[in-house]
Parts: sequence; structure tokens; C-alpha cells
Amino acid sequence: MAFTADMHDDIEEILITGEALQARVAELARVIAEEYRGKDLILLGILRGAIMFMADLARQLAMPLDMDFMAITSYGNSTESSGVVRILKDLDEPIEGKHVLIVEDIIDTGLTLRYLMENLERRNPASLAVCTLLDKEKARDRDKVIEPAYIGFQIPDRFVVGYGLDYAQKYRNLPYIGVLKPSVYQGE
Ligand code: IMP
Ligand code: MG
Repeated sequence: MAFTADMHDDIEEILITGEALQARVAELARVIAEEYRGKDLILLGILRGAIMFMADLARQLAMPLDMDFMAITSYGNSTESSGVVRILKDLDEPIEGKHVLIVEDIIDTGLTLRYLMENLERRNPASLAVCTLLDKEKARDRDKVIEPAYIGFQIPDRFVVGYGLDYAQKYRNLPYIGVLKPSVYQGE
């Protein structure tokens, strides 16, 4: 796999600019602040993809809140969902009686989220909801997957990178959401 020295050269198309991301995150924060006013809120970031979104969202929220993280794996280094979900790092604090808002980078098949919700429900939070930056427009079995309460952007069913999202662990530090040039995958 060959990565270009300048990551921007590997991007075919910018789907969401940095400015659009910041504007939408601010909007989401306004709605979330309203919804969770006076409640004991934990933002639960899903490592590693949600780090940029989580950091920006948290800074737009003026209310007191806790930040915790979980690391799970569902993808490996490929661009196909494996359907296998495993906890690599669990929460540091208990969530019983707390209002938990899961902060995710993207929902693709929804398998990761379904597994997470089932696992976290068993810990008896006061409430459990999902805020995802991106939601891929694709057919999902609506009975089997959980609908996020908050969605930043609906995007076409393409593999995207940037603003936390990776391809083979690279491109997370791009300040926008973009689509890779096919040449980057070649030889895989
Ligand atoms: P799901 O279980 O199929 O919904 O996959 C969710 C996870 O797969 C996300 O949290 C991402 O880590 C990863 N993922 C899904 N689509 C993309 C993409 O287009 N780019 C980068 N990562 C993705
Ligand atoms: Mg992820």
C-alpha cells in the first residue's frame, strides 16, 4: 500500500468541508443541550473514529458533562464490514442511572451500534441514545438496527475518510470528509 506524502492528493472528492462540519456540529450541540438540560450526561465516544467529532461537539456544549470512551472493532483494515464486534477497551466509569449519549463517527451496516446498544442497555443507564456524525444512505433492516437520535449528515454509500475516519488507520487527521482515489486501494 502506497500513501502519498500529501494526504490531500489522495482525495478524489471532498464531500463535507471543514466549515460545514463545524456549522453542523454547533447545530447538533444546540439541540443536545436543550434535550439534556439539567440531566447527568455522559458523552460516550467510540474510539477511534469519533475522536474529532467528540472533541468538537463537547466544546460546543456549555453544560457540565462526563466524557468516556469505548474501543470496539468491527472492520479490520478492509473497507468491508466483517459483522464481528469485539470490545477492545471498556468504559472507565459505571453508567447506571446516567444519561448516556453514544457519539459515533458513521453508521454503515448498523451492526456495531446494535451490539453496543444491547451491551450498554444491560448496565441500566437512565437513557441511552446515539449521535452519529454520518449516516450512510443504504437499505437496512429497520427491525434489526437502532435508529440514531441525532444525525449530522446523510451521505451516499461510499467509503469516506477524514475528520476521524480512517482507511488502514490513515487519513483520520484530514480536516474534512472526503472520498479516496481508487488508486489508493490498488494492490490491496
Ligand atoms: P457498521 O457496523 O457497519 O455500522 O460500521 C461502523 C463502523 O465501521 C464505523 O464506526 C467506522 O469505524 C467503520 N466505517 C464504516 N463505514 C466507513 C467509511 O466509509 N469510512 C471509514 N470507516 C467506516
Ligand atoms: Mg468506528
